[in-house]
Amino acid sequence: MAPAIELLLLALVSQALAAPASWSSSLGAVVTIPAIETHVPRGTEPGAAPTLVNSATTGITTHGPYSGTPTTTGAEQATATLATEILPKPNPTATYYNTNGKLTQPQPMPYMPAGGVGTNGTLPVYMVQSDFDYESIALGLHQEYIELDLFHYGLEIFSEQDFLDAGLTVEDRNLIQYMAIQEAGHATLLTNMLGETAPKQCTYDYPFTTVREFLDFNVKLTRWGESGNWGFISHLDSKEVATLLVQAEAIEARQQAIFRQLLGLHPMPIWFAPGIPQSWHWTLLSQYISSCPKNNTRLVWQNFPNLNVVNQPNVNRYVNTSLINANTTEKWEIVGDRTGDPSDSRIPEDESCVHQNTTGYNCGPAISRDRYNPVSFPGRQVNLTWDEPGKAVGPNNSYVTSTTAGEPAFVAWVSQLNLTYTELTVTGSNCGFTYQPATEVFETDPAVNGTVFIALTDSDIYVTPFNLTMINPHVRALGLYQSG
Ligand SMILES: *[C@@H]1O[C@H](CO)[C@@H](O)[C@H](O)[C@H]1NC(C)=O
Ligand SMILES: *[C@@H]1O[C@H](CO)[C@@H](O)[C@H](O)[C@H]1NC(C)=O
Ligand SMILES: *[C@@H]1O[C@H](CO)[C@@H](O)[C@H](O)[C@H]1NC(C)=O
Ligand SMILES: *[C@@H]1O[C@H](CO)[C@@H](O)[C@H](O)[C@H]1NC(C)=O
Ligand SMILES: *[C@@H]1O[C@H](CO)[C@@H](O)[C@H](O)[C@H]1NC(C)=O
Ligand SMILES: *[C@@H]1O[C@H](CO)[C@@H](O)[C@H](O)[C@H]1NC(C)=O
Ligand SMILES: *[C@@H]1O[C@H](CO)[C@@H](O)[C@H](O)[C@H]1NC(C)=O
Ligand SMILES: *[C@@H]1O[C@H](CO)[C@@H](O)[C@H](O)[C@H]1NC(C)=O
Ligand SMILES: *[C@@H]1O[C@H](CO)[C@@H](O)[C@H](O)[C@H]1NC(C)=O
Ligand SMILES: *[C@@H]1O[C@H](CO)[C@@H](O)[C@H](O)[C@H]1NC(C)=O
Repeated sequence: MAPAIELLLLALVSQALAAPASWSSSLGAVVTIPAIETHVPRGTEPGAAPTLVNSATTGITTHGPYSGTPTTTGAEQATATLATEILPKPNPTATYYNTNGKLTQPQPMPYMPAGGVGTNGTLPVYMVQSDFDYESIALGLHQEYIELDLFHYGLEIFSEQDFLDAGLTVEDRNLIQYMAIQEAGHATLLTNMLGETAPKQCTYDYPFTTVREFLDFNVKLTRWGESGNWGFISHLDSKEVATLLVQAEAIEARQQAIFRQLLGLHPMPIWFAPGIPQSWHWTLLSQYISSCPKNNTRLVWQNFPNLNVVNQPNVNRYVNTSLINANTTEKWEIVGDRTGDPSDSRIPEDESCVHQNTTGYNCGPAISRDRYNPVSFPGRQVNLTWDEPGKAVGPNNSYVTSTTAGEPAFVAWVSQLNLTYTELTVTGSNCGFTYQPATEVFETDPAVNGTVFIALTDSDIYVTPFNLTMINPHVRALGLYQSG
């Protein structure tokens, strides 16, 4: 059916009848669809599409950790820094309140209400317009590049049989391949909005050893990619850049849901996707970049020390309350010590949910899964360890983790629209525990579900989705929690 529909649409658009397409319908009658002969404009032809900044199908082929000595160290810095934190001020512009649903101002043109940004005829300029924009889009570009490499790499190192063993077919592989190619388009778009100093693709170091771990890592990586961009989009000076970025992000969000489905998780167990500060995004992402080309633009964002979950719920576990369950996830069922690392999928077959055929216990790939026993639940004791600052991380080990927070006292759970603090009980040197909170966003929607962000803080400072970044001076360490 698909080619027929395409032809039909084309015919409708062009309203020309030159080369009708014919085929036999299931009843044997010949159906003729009006169509013209056409082709994709390429090269110097009018209407040809711009070239991609990176090949969509080949790219970085070497992987692994960086072992050299960096030629430069630390985040990008301006010549001056004005203060250690930004203090809250009253908002003088929030004065509009509509009491009767009637327009309060003259209309600029028919069917158009007054107000809005970029609505007065000022010509759009699709370029970053401040240091904030530049550094945010450069960060977003690093994310697009790692996804371009990562999705291809998983297909390269795992065979069709490996995928079949994880319950996935060649058609599923082709879907992942398509998602990789989307990233070449996103990288091109972001590069164009930055100009010639846009960062180039780097070399990466991945933690996974199986298809399930590859998918688990993608679930985590696309969560911070998506949430990283939601966090800054509305703060950009250039609304033109924000507009195009949202259009890329809508696709990234679908990738997140699809990787969850490939892992046998509910595609979107949340009503709202959280946004996070750029420094959180950079902290999580940069640990998987081993080196970047000479001259690559450096970023201004902070690298926080890692916060690790000792008993991180393992999405591969068969959760049977009378046998073994998420409560009994053994210590350190994570494949490495980076906070975005996937859970270990190489557990004994009788403890794994991957090939369980019973509804409610099966976690093989599916459009949707209802787990009778969720991987995590409110009230679960969550044991944590955290790193000291001062560790060399990121591209070429040329960034250094830092914190300005005092003694850790709370765990901040950032998910959906909410930030929930729970008390931290410190049990030793750089270790302690808390309990998963039970708060809801709106009634019946548990705030904590899916992959959520957790930060260790020295205070329970009040912040909301639009000023979450103000928490940064209070963040001692940063991690992820796989709650569903
Ligand atoms: C990072 O490593 C790459 C590969 O060895 C090298 O080309 C580049 O100059 C290095 N950059 C820095 C900042 O050290
Ligand atoms: C039009 O709106 C832009 C912001 O969107 C503003 O900077 C500019 O001053 C406005 N121009 C006029 C003529 O009002
Ligand atoms: C690095 O930047 C300098 C100055 O902008 C430029 O002359 C040089 O060609 C660049 N080198 C690379 C490898 O991009
Ligand atoms: C885990 O333990 C808690 C507390 O004992 C219990 O309420 C809950 O039902 C258990 N969850 C599972 C999945 O067994
Ligand atoms: C859970 O484990 C118990 C004990 O081995 C077993 O009897 C029961 O059938 C299991 N339930 C399911 C649904 O697999
Ligand atoms: C699930 O079904 C497949 C195919 O029928 C079978 O090979 C496998 O052993 C079953 N798994 C379990 C745990 O029963
Ligand atoms: C998370 O969402 C899944 C899917 O809807 C649900 O089964 C689970 O109970 C939720 N977890 C919590 C803590 O509400
Ligand atoms: C979590 O920490 C508590 C308190 O130190 C300890 O009793 C418990 O065994 C730990 N649980 C895990 C899974 O590490
Ligand atoms: C969660 O977010 C919603 C929407 O912003 C807000 O109305 C609610 O008060 C928040 N709940 C908590 C416990 O902070
Ligand atoms: C963040 O915004 C809220 C209003 O939504 C305000 O009450 C709070 O004081 C702000 N926090 C900081 C640290 O500026």
